[in-house]
Amino acid sequence: MSEVAITRAEWLQVCKRSDLVANSGVCALVGGRQIALFFLPDQEPQLYAIDNWDPIANAGVIGRGLVAEINGDLSVASPLYKQHYRLTDGQCLEEEDIQLDTFPIAFEGDDVLIQVG
Ligand code: FES
Repeated sequence: MSEVAITRAEWLQVCKRSDLVANSGVCALVGGRQIALFFLPDQEPQLYAIDNWDPIANAGVIGRGLVAEINGDLSVASPLYKQHYRLTDGQCLEEEDIQLDTFPIAFEGDDVLIQVG
């Protein structure tokens, strides 16, 4: 019997823990794509990775947005038009047709690892 090959998205090291800003976003270029990384030390999980591109504002600004809890959901407010995107799955809370990509992200020691693609 042949073995079934399991394809796994690869974990990439995106930055170090010290590159993150607690309770705020930073943005990183991963595989040519801008991704906003949020480090929320008091939450579980502590790390969130979401597309930096805001399709409503048509600009790469999500990493500069403020984090807020809305109806129990952690979300980031786009700095331009203030739409809120849920950090766990990228869903826009005001426009149900709009959802940003989110990516698995985790600490491994002092490294921050992310899966894209
Ligand atoms: S450069 Fe990071 S949000 Fe603009």
